[in-house]
Amino acid sequence: MEASISLSSHTMRTHATSFHHAFIIFFLHPRLRYLFLLLLVQALAISVAQTPPFSCDPSNPSTRTLTFCDEALPIDKRVDDLIMRMSLEEKVPQLGDVAAAIPRLGVPSYKWWSEALHGVSSWGRGIHFNATVRAATNFPQVILTAAAFNPQLWYKIGQAIGNEARAIYNVGQAEGLTFWSPNVNIFRDPRWGRGQETPGEDPTTASKYAVAFVRGLQGDAFRGDKSPRLKASACCKHYTAYDMDNWKGNVRYTFDARVTAQDMEDTYQPPFRSCVKEGGASCVMCSYNKVNGVPTCADYNLLTKTARGSWGFDGYIASDCDSVALIYGAHGYAKSPEEAVADVLKAGMDMNCGDYVQKYAASAVQKQLLSEADIDRALRNLFSLRMRLGLFNGDPQSQPSGSISASQVCSKEHRDLALEAARDSIVLLKNRANLLPLSKSKVRSLGVIGPNANIGYKLLGNYGGPPCEVITPLGALQSYVSDTRYVAGCATTACSTTSSKNEAVQLARSVDYVVMIMGLDQDLESEGLDRVDLLLPGMQQTLIRSVARAAKRPIVLVLLCGGPVDITFAKVDKRIGGILWAGYPGEAGGLAISHIIFGDHNPGGRLPVTWYPQNFTRVPMTDMRMRADPASGYPGRTYRFYTGKPVYRFGFGLSYSNYSYHFHAKSRTSIYLNNSISLRTSTTSGIPIHDIKSLGSSTCRSLEFSATVSVTNHSPMAGKHPVLLYSRWPSVEHGRPARQLIGFKSLHLEGGEQRNVVFPLRPCKHLSRAKSDGTKVLDKGSHFLIVGEQEHEVSISY
Ligand SMILES: *[C@@H]1O[C@H](CO)[C@@H](O)[C@H](O)[C@H]1NC(C)=O
Ligand SMILES: *[C@@H]1O[C@H](CO)[C@@H](O)[C@H](O)[C@H]1NC(C)=O
Ligand SMILES: *[C@@H]1O[C@H](CO)[C@@H](O)[C@H](O)[C@H]1NC(C)=O
Ligand SMILES: *[C@@H]1O[C@H](CO)[C@@H](O)[C@H](O)[C@H]1NC(C)=O
Repeated sequence: MEASISLSSHTMRTHATSFHHAFIIFFLHPRLRYLFLLLLVQALAISVAQTPPFSCDPSNPSTRTLTFCDEALPIDKRVDDLIMRMSLEEKVPQLGDVAAAIPRLGVPSYKWWSEALHGVSSWGRGIHFNATVRAATNFPQVILTAAAFNPQLWYKIGQAIGNEARAIYNVGQAEGLTFWSPNVNIFRDPRWGRGQETPGEDPTTASKYAVAFVRGLQGDAFRGDKSPRLKASACCKHYTAYDMDNWKGNVRYTFDARVTAQDMEDTYQPPFRSCVKEGGASCVMCSYNKVNGVPTCADYNLLTKTARGSWGFDGYIASDCDSVALIYGAHGYAKSPEEAVADVLKAGMDMNCGDYVQKYAASAVQKQLLSEADIDRALRNLFSLRMRLGLFNGDPQSQPSGSISASQVCSKEHRDLALEAARDSIVLLKNRANLLPLSKSKVRSLGVIGPNANIGYKLLGNYGGPPCEVITPLGALQSYVSDTRYVAGCATTACSTTSSKNEAVQLARSVDYVVMIMGLDQDLESEGLDRVDLLLPGMQQTLIRSVARAAKRPIVLVLLCGGPVDITFAKVDKRIGGILWAGYPGEAGGLAISHIIFGDHNPGGRLPVTWYPQNFTRVPMTDMRMRADPASGYPGRTYRFYTGKPVYRFGFGLSYSNYSYHFHAKSRTSIYLNNSISLRTSTTSGIPIHDIKSLGSSTCRSLEFSATVSVTNHSPMAGKHPVLLYSRWPSVEHGRPARQLIGFKSLHLEGGEQRNVVFPLRPCKHLSRAKSDGTKVLDKGSHFLIVGEQEHEVSISY
């Protein structure tokens, strides 16, 4: 029984002769349908100093005087010069994720594909954890981090990942600095296997997450006015309306997402718009699926008109892996491979993950489906990006980012941040009769039960890298109670048989308290694998009930899972006193769970998704509609539109403290829209509305106001508490959401402390809604701001 797995490069360097552990992650990579065996065994810790790959080496006399190597020139001039020197034979091999070297011009090969969803990852091709650096900080999986509702935290995580990525490049273990993260698709359906990768179901939360993470990862300090320098490159994926992998034979490779203009405008597009416009993301990835009949990577409207045109996107557009091949193959959209290649390059895609474009671009030019100018357009975006990363400025050691050293990777600061993120995000779902926190002095014996308690990698979630150090929940709980005994109960998380149920029941009878660590794992929800069920898998429910019945006192149930589960049985069972949702909490998650259970941390996380009842599974996962359709019994999706009763609602989360809210007495109650401006006013069911576009940005600015909420912690225990501000309309007619989150702020409050939070509000943005044709309008009349149970009416008049 190994409770702790150490993989820190520092541990290795400082204890070169100490016993080394092996960390094995065995996983299926469904995207390319390859089986990867990632076996990280190090023999001797030899630091191999390698030179990172870069162009324009000053010691190379044949390139140093070339125009494209002149750092003083603007990037577009340098890129034009480089492309002008290249033959078509040299251009085409640049269009795939493995871009060929051009030795004649001193340009090394480049690997575009790396991942950094919640830590620099070993997925993709660009990062090698095989020399000085053998691990990276593994932060909680994104769905959990979202539960902290704290953009400062998300920014710091992005920043830590960006620094670790640069450090890994600086020691010669990266062949690229382009990371295909974050995943900002809306977590539309609770069964989605990749929901765990996202910031949840709410467009406001996903947008704010995208902005904070991207700015952190790319490096705000590197931002200038035009073509700002990048520490590392982030990518908003998967553009767009992609949130189903494989459900009952419906696969993402052929799926045609039918999306209404209204849902597109206020649900699917906002995270991408924010990621690009406010986050300054330098990459967008088009997805596998079609949207309304058109494969996204071949959609000129989405890529060029919307992203580059309306949003001012200036980075590169990557395809998901093999997306282009699907356009001719699975989608049958193009009539030949050459046509598929022409479709995507003309639509505005720049780089194909895979080698399909590299294979067929030359013949597409020959067949006159594509011009060399179309290829140059894509190359301009690709080489600009590499220049923005500083890869054409000679030795990176002489650049600002060159000083980021390997000591940043798995530094104490980053590992503490991983712990802070897990502690601030874990959600307390139930705490009957204040069972939690358990008293450190009174618990003399502890039973830990469950297949997720004792295996480090179950904490990590997908798209991770080798973690610095993992302490399992069991290992962490043991450090609180020396008489801690463990029984798995089921052999696997799937729990098809309760192999050791009797031992578990025996254990429960014999100890003071029981903590069960249950839930899901990557064999039950992951990329390429959606669930068909929302209940706990296999015999888990039976095991939990049996243990709860046998235990001396009510038990504590901890769930590791990304997607929600219907645990109604546990919610109502008095013998289950406490329930914690811990997502996939990352390398420090075991510690975080134990700190919360024993009161060394006050939980404050709030659910970023609705927890639906099992009967939600009768809704076809392929139905993209957000809004309910009562006539056909379609219940709608997410807290904004779901008409059924959830098991736990979006935003739910308890704490060891009680908080109360009050809108400031002087908060604005009316907003006057000056009628002397020419207004395009129409009505919906008699309510006058204003088209936001016709109001114009200066009028919109003039309407800005702020709402002040005072928040009080009524308990002696300090805590971090995210305050969520919603708005609602007087009615939900015409597809108005039941409510809409419009702002949030995480507050630290000492015991007994009261503080004010000020929410700056822009009516055109925060109080508007999308009509059925997708246009944004502001309704005249009442709007309600909501915090907790408190409502504050604001009326818009003219
Ligand atoms: C690490 O892996 C990369 C890619 O496979 C390889 O090129 C490199 O030589 C390896 N480095 C060491 C020190 O093994
Ligand atoms: C599904 O279950 C919920 C909660 O038990 C209930 O409110 C709802 O009416 C059910 N819906 C259907 C269609 O059975
Ligand atoms: C705090 O919440 C608990 C549980 O809802 C309640 O019993 C208690 O009265 C509350 N205390 C205060 C000070 O509001
Ligand atoms: C409306 O706008 C006009 C022209 O800008 C201005 O003269 C007038 O004072 C405004 N009225 C109000 C109530 O703000």
